Amino acid sequence: MNRRGQVRFENIVKMHGDFAALKDVSFAIESGEFFALLGPSGSGKSTTLRILAGLDAPTSGRVFIDGQDITASDARDRDIAMVFQSYALYPHMTVYENIAFPLEMAKLSKAAIGPAVQEAARKVAIDHLLDRKPGQLSGGQQQRCALARAIVRKARLFLLDEPLSNLDAKLRLETRTELKKLQRSLGVTAVYVTHDQEEAMTLADRMAVFMAGQIQQTGRPAEVFARPNSIDVAAFIGSPPMNLIPARYSSGSVEIAGSRLETSQKEAGDRDVVVGIRPGAVRIAACGIPATVELVEDLGDTAILDLDCGGTFIRARISDGDIPHEGAALSITARAHDIHLFDPTTRRRL
Ligand SMILES: Nc1ncnc2c1ncn2[C@@H]1O[C@H](COP(=O)(O)OP(=O)(O)O)[C@@H](O)[C@H]1O
Ligand SMILES: [Mg+2]
Repeated sequence: MNRRGQVRFENIVKMHGDFAALKDVSFAIESGEFFALLGPSGSGKSTTLRILAGLDAPTSGRVFIDGQDITASDARDRDIAMVFQSYALYPHMTVYENIAFPLEMAKLSKAAIGPAVQEAARKVAIDHLLDRKPGQLSGGQQQRCALARAIVRKARLFLLDEPLSNLDAKLRLETRTELKKLQRSLGVTAVYVTHDQEEAMTLADRMAVFMAGQIQQTGRPAEVFARPNSIDVAAFIGSPPMNLIPARYSSGSVEIAGSRLETSQKEAGDRDVVVGIRPGAVRIAACGIPATVELVEDLGDTAILDLDCGGTFIRARISDGDIPHEGAALSITARAHDIHLFDPTTRRRL
């Protein structure tokens, strides 16, 4: 596979009347990357994908693929394959005919189409179902058929819009793993829309976090998880989400529920902050912030504790040691480098 499928969005704005669905969106995707557009519903992910595919035109800004400005070019000339949430298979056609369809549109010969369809179907393990109609397939098989139809074109870019959301939980996990393997083996650039942070975290090489028509943060999933650059990203990523606690900072520590926790981030002077602590970073300790266990959610290998710290509510996830009982009194702490500080006004990381 040659190095192709690079994408660049430059200052893309999309207006629907007075409403800005995208407000100055810029990002770049490298060849061969699995890139996720992650964000809550309505944040502009699908709009971004549709503009990349050429199904929608931006109000302003430019889109480049492989260095070429394609903002004004027709969807059919972009060499892109798209897989949607609804599989959009042709119900009256067989699996074979569905997969062959893009090649027939491209006027390939019958002799060339047969082997190409076979190969694509084999890659997603539906080559034994070629004579069936979509209505005779399970949800997972339909999704594979849609993938095969995308693979068969050997397009330079794969766009996927919530492709797993119609599958049940178990199949979603299996298909997720297969999708990643498939993308790796094809070496194709993939742009993947999802509102599911776990899906983005596990699939993506890099991701852009969308909120209200803007990209809040771009980076590798582990980076974004470790250093969210705003309160909104911090609250969106991680399950359960980060504890976010209004507090006062002074001389290298923050005060929470009457106790002090040392921070590794140092600020000049005293100030109000929002303290972020991941549930997994909360430790049960001999001395620290006094807490009462309100609720225990035992998940088997981990447990989620809802803690009442003198009126401040903190969630902890513990994965080893004895699980405390509901009603137990204990104390908690967190290591200095696990404490994130945000500005309550700008909502940005300090
Ligand atoms: N044709 C349209 N007319 C008006 N508003 C639209 C249109 N298409 C999308 N929007 C709005 O733009 C915003 C972004 O939509 P979308 O990109 O589909 O979000 P996402 O995929 O992140 O859920 C939403 O608020 C949606 O209601
Ligand atoms: Mg969408």
